[in-house]
Amino acid sequence: MPDSPRTTAAITSVGTYLPPDRLTNADLEKMVDTNDEWIRSRTGISERRILRDPDKATAFMATEAARQCLDKAGVAPDQVDCILVATVTPDMLFPATACLVQDALGATKAWGYDISAACSGFLFALTTGAKLVESGMHQRVLVIGADTMSRIVDYTDRATCVIFGDGAGAVLLEAATDGTGLLDAVHHVDGTGAGSLRQPGGGSMRPATHETVDARLHYLKQDGRAVFKRAVVGMAEAAAEIMERNDLAPDDIRYLVPHQANLRIIEATARRMGLGADKVMVNIEHYGNTTAATLPLCLGDWEGQLRAGDNLVLAAFGGGFTWGATWLKWAYDGSE
Ligand code: ACO
Repeated sequence: MPDSPRTTAAITSVGTYLPPDRLTNADLEKMVDTNDEWIRSRTGISERRILRDPDKATAFMATEAARQCLDKAGVAPDQVDCILVATVTPDMLFPATACLVQDALGATKAWGYDISAACSGFLFALTTGAKLVESGMHQRVLVIGADTMSRIVDYTDRATCVIFGDGAGAVLLEAATDGTGLLDAVHHVDGTGAGSLRQPGGGSMRPATHETVDARLHYLKQDGRAVFKRAVVGMAEAAAEIMERNDLAPDDIRYLVPHQANLRIIEATARRMGLGADKVMVNIEHYGNTTAATLPLCLGDWEGQLRAGDNLVLAAFGGGFTWGATWLKWAYDGSE
């Protein structure tokens, strides 16, 4: 008897949401002691999108991205089985942002939860969602990466405020038996890096008090140099590991889809993989680092150029530390 084809989870649609307001390097020059030249040469960023409406937050952006994703696929919200939201900026510590998205979408049959893995959140959520589909447990899983970083960034700290932006992206996972879909993934965490990138206040260790707020502990803190050193190695090694163990040569890869933390980290990863700039998705210039949203925002921006069978390597590194890479064979022809 011939082997029955392997069931994989394929991305069958992508949706994105970016808030309309832009925060440019020129705007930041008026807020902190920085300049456009420093920001562009050190990070590759020119502007970021900011969600200004105080009555909207991560669940709003996640819902908008998910709605676009489902509309494009012609899938009704009540056909979704599960919603996974990768975020470090949930609307509230609980309930999960996934619950708010489920309600706003009207995804009446779906369950779901949030995944907290900082900039690797979407990558980890993608693997989790894929396993729910591959196992036969579910037919349709929405995987969303969404972060409103502007709400936890300290706009008096020039070392972090220039980096981050807001945005959301969503993908729909459905079963495939044609060889497309998520084919392999490597994931890592190293909690010894927890002190290098964190939001110290507002959790159960330092609940919000006047003192924690006065000490600005509710804002993101980063030791940029320490994170940079680990990110360069982590992303490049994970991407190389995915290539080596699947016998993928540079010519086999259509695109590297890297987390958009810093252009220099992206370039180092591409070099390690032997890829030229034409094979690397880069949109950091316009959005900055949107944490869990960077990978699906790239997929959304490049969807029109993707063809069924294209090999993509997704790679990310983030707070935790968390990092990894995924081999994905694209499932459909995009339209420009
Ligand atoms: N404008 C001007 N000067 C600045 C700014 C700024 N915005 N920020 C820092 N500087 C200064 C510093 O004070 C320092 O001055 P000094 O030498 O007099 O002390 C100098 O520039 C160099 O600072 P570094 O921190 O060494 O600069 P670096 O080249 O490392 O760039 C950056 C900083 C962009 C933060 C970089 O370290 C980086 O990208 N780190 C990794 C970020 C990352 O990948 N995060 C993970 C994902 S995020 C997540 O998971 C939520």
